[in-house]
Amino acid sequence: MVAMNQQAIRFDYNNVLADAVGQHGLTEAEIEAALPHAAAAIDAVQSHRADLGWMDLPYQDIGEITALAQEVRARADTLVVLGIGGSALGPIATQTALQHPFYNNLPRELRRGPCLYVPDNADPELNAALLEVLDLERTVFNVITKSGTTAETMAAFLYFREALAKRLGAGALRDHLVLTTDPKKGALRQIVDREGYPALPLPSNVGGRFSELTSVGLFPAAVTGVDISELLAGAAFADKRCQERDPRKNPAAMNALIQFLLDKKGKNMVVMMPYAQRLKDVADWFRQLWAESLGKHADRAGNVVNVGPTPVKALGVTDQHSQVQLYAEGPFDKVFNFLFVDDYTTSAPLVNPYPDVDELSYLEGKSFEQLIKAEAEATQLALTEAGRPNVAHHFPAVNAYTLGQFYYLMEVQTAIAGELYNINAFDQPGVEAGKIATYALMGRTGYDERRAEIEAARGKRRDDLVI
Ligand code: PA5
Repeated sequence: MVAMNQQAIRFDYNNVLADAVGQHGLTEAEIEAALPHAAAAIDAVQSHRADLGWMDLPYQDIGEITALAQEVRARADTLVVLGIGGSALGPIATQTALQHPFYNNLPRELRRGPCLYVPDNADPELNAALLEVLDLERTVFNVITKSGTTAETMAAFLYFREALAKRLGAGALRDHLVLTTDPKKGALRQIVDREGYPALPLPSNVGGRFSELTSVGLFPAAVTGVDISELLAGAAFADKRCQERDPRKNPAAMNALIQFLLDKKGKNMVVMMPYAQRLKDVADWFRQLWAESLGKHADRAGNVVNVGPTPVKALGVTDQHSQVQLYAEGPFDKVFNFLFVDDYTTSAPLVNPYPDVDELSYLEGKSFEQLIKAEAEATQLALTEAGRPNVAHHFPAVNAYTLGQFYYLMEVQTAIAGELYNINAFDQPGVEAGKIATYALMGRTGYDERRAEIEAARGKRRDDLVI
């Protein structure tokens, strides 16, 4: 028998069929005709496992991560993750999904570990304000950067390192820093080698946005008391499902195919809408994964294609009162991915002290859980009836096992979608271009030519167009 907390996420694509949503959906014949393409994409991804380090992460040895996490748990009241993009979104998503919603506000005895902050921005006010509230003596900073050079993360490292050194002395730094980076390359690796800080390797064959199940995500999760072996067990379970060669039985392949076919029909936006506050940052994590992997200028043959569906994050029920009017009546350019939850950890029952007020009587004896589930079903129904194709991912519950599954399913889905679009899903030249421009503007050595180009472009700007 499957343990209650080790159940599969169910994927339901009834509502993409033309039978359900009319002309904006897919016919059975369209799906059937595309299945060989999806099967070939599954084969292509599986045959590249050796190069795609993230695919075997469910089977890694977590001894080093767990041991260092134990040490940090013993000496820190606060863990601060300094990273950005793939080095921050996963840790944030896991924290939101698996911890108490007001984790940092709980008294220490009710928390499973130190408080966690992930500032995730180069905003001066944010970083300065964080410094104001930290007790540096009891804080550990986990600096995460795969390249070991990203401007925002390295700036954060310098900023907080200086504060630590000033306050506690340079000799104390080793007790307050854990550096997660490439095992061989990058400025941060050089610093680790020179100054001997505790460090965790980030496998060089795992890209940033596919790194949540490496030390990037596992270390902060372990420090805050998450059972990381359950995350990996869920991912291993998803791996088995993703190895299924028949796309009809492989949720990652089926959803990749659906999103791809609907994109071809003009639904070039993918709205991920969880009906659980816990999953709101998972939608944010997915947004980066999908956008950076699939938004590409050229295909593998070098043809200019400029492809990439735009991922949008929404939150049920919050965005029913913000976005759903557009979703139901606006352009037919979206496909919806609902994330539904069968069991919340609490139902939060309601008592109605106003039985005589007609408009409220239906709430008597109900619960928040009933309300959110009714709204989820109602919104899905309304969008389906409005001809909007949608799929649903049903989480039996949000726990480490289902979260690990979902991360892995979405990663394989993204890799398979890359095959369908015939693009390289694992590079990010557009992001690199921004990084290079930043280095040039900040005066980094070796970027003078780019700086001159930017200055020349600035010189052509017209003042009369700024009003
Ligand atoms: O997916 C990616 O590779 C990027 O989004 C990176 O995660 C992001 O740019 C941060 O890079 P790094 O971890 O090298 O600092």
